[in-house]
Amino acid sequence: MDTTDKGFTEKVLKAYSNIEDPRLKFIVALLIKHLHGCVNEMKPTDEEWEFAWDYMRRMAAITGLERNEFLLFGDVIGVSQLIETLNHEEPGQPVGYALVGPFLRANAPFRARGASIASDDTAGVRVRITGRVYDFQNKAPIKGAILDTWQAATNGFYENQDEKQPDYNLRGRFKTDENGTFEVIGLMPTAYPAPTDGPVGELLRGAKRSPYRPAHIHFIVSAPGYETLVTQIFVKGDKRIEDDVVFTASENMIGDFQKEGDHFRLTYDCPLKPGVSKMPKAPIPA
Ligand SMILES: [Fe+2]
Repeated sequence: MDTTDKGFTEKVLKAYSNIEDPRLKFIVALLIKHLHGCVNEMKPTDEEWEFAWDYMRRMAAITGLERNEFLLFGDVIGVSQLIETLNHEEPGQPVGYALVGPFLRANAPFRARGASIASDDTAGVRVRITGRVYDFQNKAPIKGAILDTWQAATNGFYENQDEKQPDYNLRGRFKTDENGTFEVIGLMPTAYPAPTDGPVGELLRGAKRSPYRPAHIHFIVSAPGYETLVTQIFVKGDKRIEDDVVFTASENMIGDFQKEGDHFRLTYDCPLKPGVSKMPKAPIPA
């Protein structure tokens, strides 16, 4: 078969032309078109194709409820952040949208205003984060907004990766008061590497890329009638911000952490755009 023959791709597209759902039909057709285009240009050898499907098998083998190598792959090639940006970013938005990442766990405990998400014996310098959730359009405070926050311990591990941490350590949900304000005690964030013991690690080593994410704290802020804000807060001046392994860190996600005695302070306001409130799927179950 002549690989420049468009007839072959047309034949395959026709075979999938009876899909009833219009969106699914569009997606399948686009995938076929672009994958055929990619293969025509790449001209993979038999060995390269065998490597590709075995790479996918190995990704599947390491994937389970606590870890998803496919999601991590999407993260490190920039697809997850691209989708986030396409779906949510508007010019001039003061706080950027970040990918959810693989470590959001469902049903984090509700904690009282000003409570710590770190257990008493968790090592690390504390930070008191205060802020205000408000309507991006009319600037009015949003009462009863829910802020779901999670972060890694100073050893770089989230509690689900680390048997030594108590269940749901460094995770918590907080509600804003009548002025739309919240207060959370957490840890000064720590940089950590994405897991590199699977096929994604091979890719990063091959590309000579650092597997590190700059230090950050995750925030999801939601309220009825508003688009859910999924974001991360990075530390001003952190050198790793430039080469975040998942391409998320950007100028509109930087927090100005200020030293105050033996701890740090951060003020971080969260604007919400009017829209449909929906929570992203948590990669880690309750
Ligand atoms: Fe993270």
